[in-house]
Amino acid sequence: MNGKVALITGGGSGIGAACARRLGDDGFGVVVADIDVDAAHRVADAVTAAGGAGRAHRVDVSDPLSVRELLGVVLDRCGRLDVVVNCAGIAGPLVPVVDYPIDAFDAVMRTNVNGVFYVMRAALPTMLGSGGVIVNIASVAGSAALRTHCAYVAAKHAVIGLTKAAAREYAGNGVRVVSVSPGVIDSPMTEALPRDRLARVLQSVPLGKPGRPEDVADLVAYLTSDSAWYITGSDHPVDGGFLTR
Ligand SMILES: NC(=O)c1ccc[n+]([C@@H]2O[C@H](COP(=O)([O-])OP(=O)(O)OC[C@H]3O[C@@H](n4cnc5c(N)ncnc54)[C@H](O)[C@@H]3O)[C@@H](O)[C@H]2O)c1
Repeated sequence: MNGKVALITGGGSGIGAACARRLGDDGFGVVVADIDVDAAHRVADAVTAAGGAGRAHRVDVSDPLSVRELLGVVLDRCGRLDVVVNCAGIAGPLVPVVDYPIDAFDAVMRTNVNGVFYVMRAALPTMLGSGGVIVNIASVAGSAALRTHCAYVAAKHAVIGLTKAAAREYAGNGVRVVSVSPGVIDSPMTEALPRDRLARVLQSVPLGKPGRPEDVADLVAYLTSDSAWYITGSDHPVDGGFLTR
């Protein structure tokens, strides 16, 4: 073990689970936090079964009290925090702007934007003394619009903005903050999309097929490593070329 601790929100599924497994393999103690605590336990157990150290906790990132409680538990039990991967997210309904339900818009923003803010706000004070890396999982929808996805597009643009703002504020404290923007990745979130919609989006992917959660985790592992010491504030697509359009 490298003695460092990584917290992964949304770690119970898809990309977050792949990040948890990869950082566990790389020697981090891994805290898997998810609103689905059973899923978080399954991933934490897999990290431990592979020879690492996994722990699971329930968190609702859209609730600042729940986030504060999580960070308290992490510090209590692990004593340090070196890496945060903000991966918890929801897609919201596929509806044009005029029909988009207001409560659904609010829910997407609360989870995808406020959640990232709450976790950074609670984690940063601990990281300022010792340094660390925050990776916010944005999306290609943070740089390009996808039809009928207005809340998700707005939220992911905001995640990239929050990342830049925090990177600039805390670079002098040894904390790097970056975003990663997946394109179409095989995960439960993508499986929930209508098949014809998915096929249409894939037509815009030069590499012609979806990526795997592990492809995102590989990039996250690099960005959290010391080799990436000169990288902060930037967004890093892993999208099969989608953003070339
Ligand atoms: N799959 C893709 O193609 C894709 C593309 C671009 C960006 N992303 C982003 O990657 C991230 C992970 O997506 P995924 O594909 O692995 O999806 P997923 O649905 O497999 O995983 C999301 C996880 O977040 C958890 N979660 C949802 N709301 C939460 C909350 N309020 N508090 C705590 N946990 C919560 C879920 O329980 C789930 O375990 C998301 O931020 C998503 O927007 C995914």
